[in-house]
Amino acid sequence: MGVFNTLRSVVRFRTFERDRTLRTLTKVADVGDLRTLAKKRLPAGCFDYIDGAAQDEVTAAANVSAFTKYSFRPRVLRDVSSIETSTELLGGRIPFPLMIAPTGFDRIAHSQGELAVARAAERAGIPYSLSTMGTRSIEEVAEVNHGRKWFQVYVWRDKPLLKEMLQRAADAQYEGIMITVDTAVLGRRERDVRRGFSLPPKIGLDTVIDGVRHPRWTWDFLKSDPIQFANVKGNSSVGDGSTPVTLSDYINSQFDPALSWRDIEWFRDNWPGMIMIKGVQTVEDAEIAAEMGVDGVILSNHGGRQLDYAPAPIDLVSPVADAVAGRVSVICDGGIRRGSDIVKAVSLGADACMIGRAYFYALGAAGERGVDWVLEFLRAGVEHTMALSGVGSIGELNRDLVEGVSE
Ligand code: GLV
Repeated sequence: MGVFNTLRSVVRFRTFERDRTLRTLTKVADVGDLRTLAKKRLPAGCFDYIDGAAQDEVTAAANVSAFTKYSFRPRVLRDVSSIETSTELLGGRIPFPLMIAPTGFDRIAHSQGELAVARAAERAGIPYSLSTMGTRSIEEVAEVNHGRKWFQVYVWRDKPLLKEMLQRAADAQYEGIMITVDTAVLGRRERDVRRGFSLPPKIGLDTVIDGVRHPRWTWDFLKSDPIQFANVKGNSSVGDGSTPVTLSDYINSQFDPALSWRDIEWFRDNWPGMIMIKGVQTVEDAEIAAEMGVDGVILSNHGGRQLDYAPAPIDLVSPVADAVAGRVSVICDGGIRRGSDIVKAVSLGADACMIGRAYFYALGAAGERGVDWVLEFLRAGVEHTMALSGVGSIGELNRDLVEGVSE
């Protein structure tokens, strides 16, 4: 009897979660777990497109590992019974310093694609950015997200098409554009080269076998509309992905490798809202951008997908923040996996961070609820780190909190 009483006092059966996705998420503790789940659920070609990067993937790994060089100098006995994680970014208040980075082809992770991410972003109150290479259109996203939205643009060779896209983004109330400047030509992603990865994924014997091994993804894919480049749907001169194309062929033929600072002037004349430059990788270029009077610089190496051996964004935050001295907002994009990474970046001088893979893994792992999960995980992580560091509000974060600052 004694044994049973002891057991009864310690054993509590967890209530069984009926919803399969929620059941999965109860076992997730961090972004690494989401990545593992996405790897299981997605066909290998799709997972590798998301997870992979340029050449030896040194920069992609360094984006994450560079955060480990910075540690905290936590203060104690500071009354952290209330923590305020909200902050001002580009003329509006956001609940914590994060934006959604643009990523192409979200529908390869889940049939809802960009719509799932855009809805989750609005629920979390954080700005969403739609990629030019999105698989949901400017208008479809605006229908499901009435919050703050940005549109990412490339410098297309076809300027009338670019003008038309900007007009559509203005009509749909996107508050700003981010001009990606690190993609004069596409980076060499060797996982995609090996697999001959195309958009939409080509169906060959290997993909059929892969599809059978990932039945949930395959069923989701087969019962949805074909995956296309939604922003140029029906445009036969540039191609909308109705026939499979490799990303490098597409980008190298459609985007202008002659892009220069003059193009930024062109955007100023053709876009009424805010402008950020995405892909700044040196202090010098951040300074030029600030001189030109853009609204923000996004320190980014495209998740290590363009130039391998480019610097990790977190290492640029402090020198760039010093150089631009508040003239433009500074966004740190790359390698964010925890709330503590966001706290480090903001302490070093960033106004906010952006995530790409972190939510892409979540979308692949558990669809829209996965994205809700990761956004709440990051928000709670910011709050938790601030509490343990003795900081009550975002405005109090500064370099005193962080050790390992590169000069
Ligand atoms: C697209 O921009 C990509 O990085 O694949």
